[in-house]
Amino acid sequence: MKLAVVGGGSTYTPELIDGFARLRDTLPIEELVLVDPAADRLELVGGLARRIFAKQGHPGRIVTTSDLDAGVADADAVLLQLRVGGQAARNQDETWPLECGCIGQETTGAGGLAKAMRTVPVVLDIAERVRRTNPNAWIIDFTNPVGIVTRALLQAGHKAVGLCNVAIGFQRKFARLLDVTPAEVHLDHVGLNHLTWELGVRLGGPDGENVLPKLLAEHGDAIADDLRMPRAVTDRLGVVPSYYLRYFYAHDAVVRELGTKPSRASEVAAMERELLAMYGDPALDEKPALLAKRGGAFYSEAAVDLASSLLGSGGSAVQVVNTYNKGTLPFLPDDAVIEVQARVDGTGATPLAVPALDPLYAGLIANVTAYEDLALEAALRGGRDRVFKALLAHPLIGQFEYAEALTDKLIAHNREHLAWA
Ligand code: G6P
Ligand code: MN
Repeated sequence: MKLAVVGGGSTYTPELIDGFARLRDTLPIEELVLVDPAADRLELVGGLARRIFAKQGHPGRIVTTSDLDAGVADADAVLLQLRVGGQAARNQDETWPLECGCIGQETTGAGGLAKAMRTVPVVLDIAERVRRTNPNAWIIDFTNPVGIVTRALLQAGHKAVGLCNVAIGFQRKFARLLDVTPAEVHLDHVGLNHLTWELGVRLGGPDGENVLPKLLAEHGDAIADDLRMPRAVTDRLGVVPSYYLRYFYAHDAVVRELGTKPSRASEVAAMERELLAMYGDPALDEKPALLAKRGGAFYSEAAVDLASSLLGSGGSAVQVVNTYNKGTLPFLPDDAVIEVQARVDGTGATPLAVPALDPLYAGLIANVTAYEDLALEAALRGGRDRVFKALLAHPLIGQFEYAEALTDKLIAHNREHLAWA
């Protein structure tokens, strides 16, 4: 089995390598290609990756290259984990929206639109090149904003599944609180990428007993602390929102908070400098603890599970992924991309049925889906008017004056990445 990771020079990659090494029985990789245009980073990350494999006795070969076409040739699956413009562009996404009193975040609100606009054309070009060399390869997309990017890929006819670590994070957390193994915990996870709620937590399988009320009663404080939301939110709703819902449920408080502290991008950039210095040390042969301070915890395990199910080497039958709605949420178009539990096998992902949703969740999901639809139009076709309409449709923006101002800021800050601007 051959896997390629585009964006393989990311400082996150050792997390992925560690998962590949530990879970080699589930995903027997013979060749792993790390592809990245940044040759210097790639060498540092590739060196550590080889040492991790060697230490853990993984027999697979790790190849590094800046040549995308050569790197993805004959790969059975290609993982996309790139960030167009790097942390510098992310820093912009997190900063200029605040000038209009709006959230500065890389996947939510105006910053998320900017990221989608930079990213969609690049990802589509990569996917096209993958398809040219190997039309059967699966594309696993971690690249944010995952919902919009996955929809772009599926719409262009690619064999793609989108992945995020929010669900696996909850699964692991709830398993610890319940003192059971993660595999025993099934989540009634519903929504769009970075806009989800755990409506139930079931033991033993998708039809198992729902222990969410018990979890909230016994561990409500710990769960609320993690979400950085008041316990009243989970108590009143009786569900667990993802921490991205904080941008909605506590919008104004978060805007105030973001205005008083350094951006996440600047924190991450500092961590990346430290990590790269560590990776250069030939004595380091494991994933450093500092990596745990990044948001991507458990993403390697989710990736191994998904790749092994898609490639038929094992993996859980049911996983939370991003895929076409196809009637699962009847109030959305079939070609909207949703994030729910799905059966995953060699033919792809098929969402499990979801019971009728409370309007409290359905309304916001429908609204953000409409935004994502317009955002993808803007990313694919460009133009000031399309950017403006996407921003006006976003439930966290919505006001004409702000949508106008944010449109100008988005274009001004991203001109070098936007072919039409
Ligand atoms: C979580 C999200 C990812 C996001 C990451 C950011 O893992 O699910 O989509 O990329 O956080 O983490 P960072 O450490 O870069 O802030
Ligand atoms: Mn995510």
